[in-house]
Amino acid sequence: MHKVMFTETVLRDANQSLVATRMPFDDFKAILKEIDAAGYYSIECWGGATFDSCLRYLDEDPWERLRKIKSVCKTPLQMLLRGQNLLGYKHYPDGVVRKFVERSVENGIDVIRIFDALNDLRNLEVSVKETLKHKAVAQVAISYTTSPVHSIENYIKQIKEIENMGATALCIKDMAGVMSPAEVFDLVKGIKENSKLQLHVHTHMTTGLGFMTYLKAVEAGADVIDTAISCFSGGTSQPSTETLVYALKQLGYQVDIDLKQLKKINDFFKPIRDEALKSGLLNPLVMATDADALTYQIPGGMLSNLVAQLTAQNSLNRLDEVLAETPRVRKDMGYPPLVTPLSQMVGVQAATNVLMGERYKNVSKEIAAYIRGEYGTPPGTIDPELIKKVMGDEKPLTARFAETLPPGLEQGKKDAGPLARNVDDVLSYIVFPQIAEKFFESRQKKEENKVKYSIEKVG
Ligand code: CO
Repeated sequence: MHKVMFTETVLRDANQSLVATRMPFDDFKAILKEIDAAGYYSIECWGGATFDSCLRYLDEDPWERLRKIKSVCKTPLQMLLRGQNLLGYKHYPDGVVRKFVERSVENGIDVIRIFDALNDLRNLEVSVKETLKHKAVAQVAISYTTSPVHSIENYIKQIKEIENMGATALCIKDMAGVMSPAEVFDLVKGIKENSKLQLHVHTHMTTGLGFMTYLKAVEAGADVIDTAISCFSGGTSQPSTETLVYALKQLGYQVDIDLKQLKKINDFFKPIRDEALKSGLLNPLVMATDADALTYQIPGGMLSNLVAQLTAQNSLNRLDEVLAETPRVRKDMGYPPLVTPLSQMVGVQAATNVLMGERYKNVSKEIAAYIRGEYGTPPGTIDPELIKKVMGDEKPLTARFAETLPPGLEQGKKDAGPLARNVDDVLSYIVFPQIAEKFFESRQKKEENKVKYSIEKVG
């Protein structure tokens, strides 16, 4: 029986999935030592929505948060990076991407999980190369989806290309919790027969498949699974760490994690979870099982967005039509994986098509950019009629979109102005200009008040 390792997600994905990434550093700083001592392969603690949330809601400098975690932890620190999108929602120029990766590693990141919503590997190349240059682990993740153009053979072909890119580890990333035990078994087995790279599997408990999916993944040879300490597990979060440690040990796998240590960590987070339930930040429904995504073949989060959108437009009675239109729009788009931002784009377009009574009478700005090739190459082919409708006689972009962008670092420095004190601030500004500016102002004010207060005290 092989060794199975764990990545703890309570500080990032579980935090993001259950409490909208609103856990401030001060809430968890006292438990970092114990998390560090538990024997995890890595602690996922940065990237994803944490960066945005630190600046926007928590009045925290995300870079400083990372340095503080690093000062306590020897266990590798892991972040999630959306390739050329970094932690924002558009494509950034290569120079900005390189600097962001460099500063992430210098501030304490050891493992960077890099993915692209379309699995267009060209959007990962720059960040993978830069990660390797700074001697961190470049773990390339494939966004998992099923469609007529997705097959195990195609995934394995992509794995070969990822290996050629120099990636140091692989991940199958199922952001919606729809990957089944049978599917993961075949996929992991196929990858393991073709690649020697360490293989991570990432899923969510949303549809209830998570534990079975991990068990079959491990049986097929997966090396590392992502789990969340039990009181922050389940529902839209990951399967529970303790449960899998317990079960896999009993099955004879080598797991170098001490359950007693996990109990300490869980005891620490329980009151935080209870407080979040009391304040309403944590809705008990997101911790429950919702298998609707399996019937509709769309992620749970996308379904709730559609319901909210139709409710707002007083058209909830048309949900069935929109649900029938969604896979048709996805097909027209060349079967993109339904992950952020594509899930929202496809959902909104499907709703528009139904409510307008004519397909693509209105094409959203985002879908038009997608059709022009600005997000990358889709897995399948975009409907030629639709391309013609949006672009006329122009041809979609075949080059990598980032190559069409002017360099951004110097301009960002100029635009950020004197409130940005170093290159990390400039990067925060480039990715989230308005909210970074607000954060810089608030930081400045706080410091001035502190000085004023101490002068008054002395006086
Ligand atoms: Co996730």
